[in-house]
This record gives sequence, C-alpha cells and structure tokens, in this order.
Amino acid sequence: MNSLVVHFSKFGNTRMVAEAIADSLKTAGTIRLITLDHLTADDLTTLDLLVVGTPTHRMNLPEAVRPLLEALPRRILRKTPVAAFDTSYRMSPFLARFTAAGKLARRLRRLGGKLILPPETFHVKGREGPLYPGERERASTWAESILERLSPGLAAYPAAGHRS
Ligand SMILES: Cc1cc2nc3c(=O)[nH]c(=O)nc-3n(C[C@H](O)[C@H](O)[C@H](O)COP(=O)(O)O)c2cc1C
Repeated sequence: MNSLVVHFSKFGNTRMVAEAIADSLKTAGTIRLITLDHLTADDLTTLDLLVVGTPTHRMNLPEAVRPLLEALPRRILRKTPVAAFDTSYRMSPFLARFTAAGKLARRLRRLGGKLILPPETFHVKGREGPLYPGERERASTWAESILERLSPGLAAYPAAGHRS
C-alpha cells in the first residue's frame, strides 16, 4: 500500500501526531511523510491512501494552508481514500464542530477524495502544546482504524519486525 501523510505544523504538535500516524501506517507498506508546502499534484496521482493534518487556527484552517490546497487541480484525487485530522484545544461540543479537520475533509472531498473515516481531532493543552497524554497513542489507534477500514484484517496482522 502506497500512503502519504501530509501535515502543516507551527509548533510541532501536529507533526508529532502525523509521525505517530505514519509509524502505524508503515506496517502496511510504503509511507511518505511530508509537509504541506512540499506537496505537489504529482504526489497525489498514484496513492492508495492520503492523510492530511493541520492545527485548527481561529476555528478554521491555518491561513497559510488554504492557498496550498487551492493550488491543487480539481478532482486530482480520483476517489483516492482520504482521512483528515487536526490538533486543537479541548472545546465545548458546540465549538468542537469548527475544526480544521472538518474543513480539510471538505476540501479533500472537493479534490475528488473518498473520505474513509470521520475527521478526527487530537488535543493540545495550550497554544504551543504539549499534546495531552495519550494523544499520540490515540493517533496510532486512529491510523490502525484507517487500515482496518481499507482492508479488514490487515491492521491485526502487521508486517513482521514492526511490532513486538
Ligand atoms: C493563530 C492561532 C489561532 C488558533 N485558534 C484556535 C482555535 O480557534 N481553536 C483551537 O482549538 N485552537 C486554536 N489555536 C491553538 C492551535 O490549535 C494550536 O496552536 C495547535 O494545535 C498546535 O499545533 P502545532 O504545534 O502543530 O502548530 C490557535 C493557535 C494559533 C497560533
């Protein structure tokens, strides 16, 4: 399986979550982890899975992220399975609806991606972090549920050498 994890991170917390996700996806094949500013349309043409994550800024995508996504050709993802996550504060159920992950999911669908799991949020304690305890582990579990959704049974039988 050929997977790509793309992230944007101002203070490093989203990057840590992206790394945990990439580490879990490694068990199922080839994985690349890149920052959003390095993403090109060519990266998106032969993928089995695309995961994108950014922080929530002002209840939305960070401003720097929007033009990068807008520059991608419409429908480029051609039904590629996609998943979106963000990092944010723990918010009330009302405010928790306004996350970057939700916005990312919409954009990825507009690019032709097929959302395979609901957008997910991982929580930071303050503006610069750190992540709450257990969030990295939750990110690994989320990645395993992506694998399970793509190929039932696969996550339960990781490639030899990756897990004890
Ligand atoms: C300009 C700015 C706006 C932010 N707005 C929100 C917000 O609306 N809701 C929220 O939960 N967190 C907000 N945060 C906190 C970020 O979500 C937090 O900085 C981020 O999760 C850290 O991830 P990073 O280390 O990858 O940058 C904001 C942070 C910044 C810098």
